[in-house]
Amino acid sequence: MRIAVIGTGYVGLVSGVCFAECGHDVICVDNNEVKIANLHKGIIPIYEPGLDVLVKRNVKAKRLHFTTQIPEAVKNSSVIFIAVGTPPLPTGEADLSYIENVAKQVATSMDSYKVVVEKSTVPVKTGEWVKRTIRFNSQAGVDFDVASNPEFLREGSAIGDFLKPDRIVVGVENKKAADLLEECYKPIIDQAVSFDLEKQEVIHQTPQSNIVPFLVTSVSSSELIKHASNSFLALKISYINAVANFCELAGADVEQVARGMGLDSRIGQKFLNAGIGYGGSCFPKDVSAFLEISRELGYHFNLLEEVIKINKTQRELFIRKIKKAMWIVKDKTFAILGLSFKPNTDDMREAPSIDVINALLEEGASIKAYDPVAMNISKELFGDRITFCKDAYDTAKNADALILLTEWDEFVNLDLEKIHKLLNYPIFIDGRNCFEPADMAKLGFDYHCIGR
Ligand code: UDX
Ligand code: UDX
Repeated sequence: MRIAVIGTGYVGLVSGVCFAECGHDVICVDNNEVKIANLHKGIIPIYEPGLDVLVKRNVKAKRLHFTTQIPEAVKNSSVIFIAVGTPPLPTGEADLSYIENVAKQVATSMDSYKVVVEKSTVPVKTGEWVKRTIRFNSQAGVDFDVASNPEFLREGSAIGDFLKPDRIVVGVENKKAADLLEECYKPIIDQAVSFDLEKQEVIHQTPQSNIVPFLVTSVSSSELIKHASNSFLALKISYINAVANFCELAGADVEQVARGMGLDSRIGQKFLNAGIGYGGSCFPKDVSAFLEISRELGYHFNLLEEVIKINKTQRELFIRKIKKAMWIVKDKTFAILGLSFKPNTDDMREAPSIDVINALLEEGASIKAYDPVAMNISKELFGDRITFCKDAYDTAKNADALILLTEWDEFVNLDLEKIHKLLNYPIFIDGRNCFEPADMAKLGFDYHCIGR
């Protein structure tokens, strides 16, 4: 297949590269010239484990191309994926102006039948707007279909999530569009192209038919599956965080409660990790976009308001926990381990570290910080308001307390005795429940965590 992917962000670039790995001929488009120029030099604009190897391999095989020109990409492709950003507006609604702008440019570039696919996360009914925009801007007589194909990629494991997905969802209006999308995904449906989770690498193997469910729905249902799934995952996190806050009052241990809950196969162990709450470029914006579109359509989805409120409160409670542990925050030095919103990514969008650091700076504290990957982006965010250190131990040196915000492996495997010696006071405030309270007490730490 000849495929175009418009938008080379976390979703567009991973999608384009994985389609190329499946043997398709892919053109990735972005209006950010610097990004495209860097990609031509093999410089990857985002941190995603394994992506650089795949980009190089597929550029070399001449299956993957980059351009800033939408017309060139559209004319050379039969399926066009739109994967540009849909960031939140101040109201919480999704900003769909980039989608409209790209749909217009696709329409004016179309010279023959195309399937135009929403890969970006969009509120339900966006497909109707995209179809209308293309109809108004395309040459008379040029036939097309609009489809929805939401992504379920987690940052840090996006390639595996793309090549070894739980399911592929496509929303279409006719069989023709469904067949073309099935052809795009065939190597993944049959797991001819897959991902070895142990070795963390792409594998090519004998195809077996229909391993991965390929779910065909209406466009609206497909759009809704994305918002409903992400919002449910966010709900699950806010639920266990609310239980954690209750555990603190009830003298229970949320880790034990979560384990007991998760053994029920209807609940499952995943996404029951209590902590400082969720961040990232998806959950916060998708839950508020889902809430806004439901209001617009006449349903007041107040359950989602609670999900958002609990998540916001979780950060406030954590900051209060720090103050309680320190008594006086002013003029104290804090060692912050972990800045990215979660491990294995450099993404700082809605990261809890931003709220925690700003709150402590406001109280007149000093901050030393370290993150294995998100240092550059953090330096742009915080500038010289905080001190950036070269590793966890350098950060802990002469600090009055240590705060862990992102559960990177290297923090979970810290030499705690060494940390104890480096800190001025053995105060350890853990936002991700990485350690056992009994072990930390034995090591002489004044250990604070969540819901235990
Ligand atoms: C994507 C989806 O857009 C979002 O809906 C989903 O929830 C998360 O994944 P992401 O890939 O993270 O978001 O977006 P971003 O990293 O902002 O990348 C979007 C890319 O599109 C950027 O590289 C931007 O330069 C490009 N873009 C944006 C265009 O090429 N044209 C435009 O008109 C607007
Ligand atoms: C999420 C969805 O998982 C993915 O399917 C969708 O396509 C995009 O949004 P992502 O945001 O990359 O992926 O990260 P994820 O691993 O889902 O974590 C989201 C947030 O929830 C992170 O801040 C993480 O720290 C937090 N989280 C996750 C918890 O607080 N507790 C948990 O048990 C799991």
